[in-house]
Amino acid sequence: MEAGTRRSDPIAKSHLRIPLEFRWGVNGHFDINCDVDTYFHHGLRSGPGTKGLSELHFGSKYTWNKWLRPVWDTAFGFNSSISARRPPPDLTDGHNHFTPYMVFGRRLDRGPGLSSYLQASVDLTSRPPEDCAGFPPVDNGPFTMKKSLGAKTLVYPTPVFVVGTYDQQGKPNAMTASWGGICCSQPPCVAVSLRKATYSHGNIVARKAFTISLPPARHVAAADYFGTASGRSVDKFAATRLTPVRSELVDAPYVQEFPLVLECRLVHTFELGLHTQFVGEILDVKADEEVLRPDGHPDVKKLQPLVFAPGAQEYHEIGKVIDRAFATRGKP
Ligand SMILES: Cc1cc2nc3c(=O)[nH]c(=O)nc-3n(C[C@H](O)[C@H](O)[C@H](O)COP(=O)(O)O)c2cc1C
Repeated sequence: MEAGTRRSDPIAKSHLRIPLEFRWGVNGHFDINCDVDTYFHHGLRSGPGTKGLSELHFGSKYTWNKWLRPVWDTAFGFNSSISARRPPPDLTDGHNHFTPYMVFGRRLDRGPGLSSYLQASVDLTSRPPEDCAGFPPVDNGPFTMKKSLGAKTLVYPTPVFVVGTYDQQGKPNAMTASWGGICCSQPPCVAVSLRKATYSHGNIVARKAFTISLPPARHVAAADYFGTASGRSVDKFAATRLTPVRSELVDAPYVQEFPLVLECRLVHTFELGLHTQFVGEILDVKADEEVLRPDGHPDVKKLQPLVFAPGAQEYHEIGKVIDRAFATRGKP
């Protein structure tokens, strides 16, 4: 009921349909018709300002003069509609229809010019190929205008990385970085963006290396401390009683108590503005045995990695598994 109301509400649709129709009576029996449905975005709803052809319709009707004529006007015809490319879903169901029909008509004697007709039709719908059949209809909800929040660094969630470095004296340092993520599969790379003002920035430039340790939820206070104190003035490992471990592969320390660590060699440096993006090639990933699944992959439930919500400035835990990735295999 609700969906029906929405379908018929022009404001709930993004497009207006303009049919162009051509009808030709070939002779007394036979007529053919051809319609082209065009559409355009009416601009009352957001969305791309698209316009074009949505459907083509062909039809023809043959009227018998003799058969049953003394009793009924009788005609046979068909209509067919073909979706043009991928029309907007608010205009068509995306399927091609072939609809043969029969019409039995009877002129009623009681009123002048009064006729009654009975029509029987069969809709033979052809579905488009599987890969463009689309997902089942969704409840698109009422149209609401999104509020602009401005040009800000808001994506949800961002990671909570703890970047490990050595300073010039060889003092280990750890800083929290949420502006980062995996950026290449082969060679495996991760990027972190640091302000030049951080102590860690100079350490990475000098040592051409860093580690990333993933703090588990139980170490949220230490992760926050690593992101609010500077190694320029304090020994953050000593203050948090966490243990720096020298990487055997790169010139940087990682956090022993954090269950998953990446050892990275600096391969690219991009000056972006306030932040410098450091891209590190991941030379090894090390994990505590107890956070691994039987198949050898890290188990997110056991890792309990922190995630960060910018804007609200909150740390969150990761929720439950809701589906397997790549399960749709490119098919709706
Ligand atoms: C949750 C969180 C995320 C942060 N992300 C970043 C970041 O991505 N880049 C950055 O330059 N600073 C970031 N910071 C701030 C630095 O961690 C902070 O300036 C820290 O004191 C730098 O340490 P350092 O001077 O010892 O290198 C973040 C802080 C917090 C609390």
